[in-house]
Amino acid sequence: MQTKALYSGSFDPLTMGHMNIIRRASRLYDEVTVGVIDNPQKKTMFALEERKEMISEAVKDLDNVRVDHFAGLLADYVNSNGYNVVVRGLRGTTDFDYEIQMAQMNARLFNENVETVFLMTDPRYSFISSSMVKEVNSLGGSIEGLVPDEIMKRMSK
Ligand code: COA
Repeated sequence: MQTKALYSGSFDPLTMGHMNIIRRASRLYDEVTVGVIDNPQKKTMFALEERKEMISEAVKDLDNVRVDHFAGLLADYVNSNGYNVVVRGLRGTTDFDYEIQMAQMNARLFNENVETVFLMTDPRYSFISSSMVKEVNSLGGSIEGLVPDEIMKRMSK
């Protein structure tokens, strides 16, 4: 069976923690899609197209990874696009409480052949979040090594 995995999120911006999950998922599954949520209600630093562009640049060496976007219910997008795996990263116990709730709700909504699979975050990245990266950057702190270099350059502008 071909495995088609989705890794979804806001990615505002993509961090090295996300990249680590994408790289590992690309070794586990035949195809991986990074699905950027398009939620006009959420105020983001980067517009949807810019987030997609930055991710595409960061994953260009991973042959089985592509970038897409979706709006609305994740389960609708998953079911109608034939994904059989939804990958999530777990950074620690605080993520777990939220993630189990989301996975169980999604399990009710997914087609039968879809599973949520959790990858434990590499400890080098377990403290990173997109908001924290934005905050440190806006206050003049270094974010080197926390986001891909191209994204760091854009953020310093
Ligand atoms: N490394 C580094 N940071 C990580 C990470 C990792 N491995 N995994 C998550 N994060 C960060 C994210 O950058 C984000 O940071 P921020 O809050 O500072 O922006 C935070 O952890 C939360 O990530 P996540 O849980 O993936 O939230 P999200 O907003 O990026 O995406 C969706 C959440 C899009 C997957 C979820 O809201 C969704 O499915 N929405 C669709 C609507 C829906 O179906 N709702 C019903 C769900 S049951």
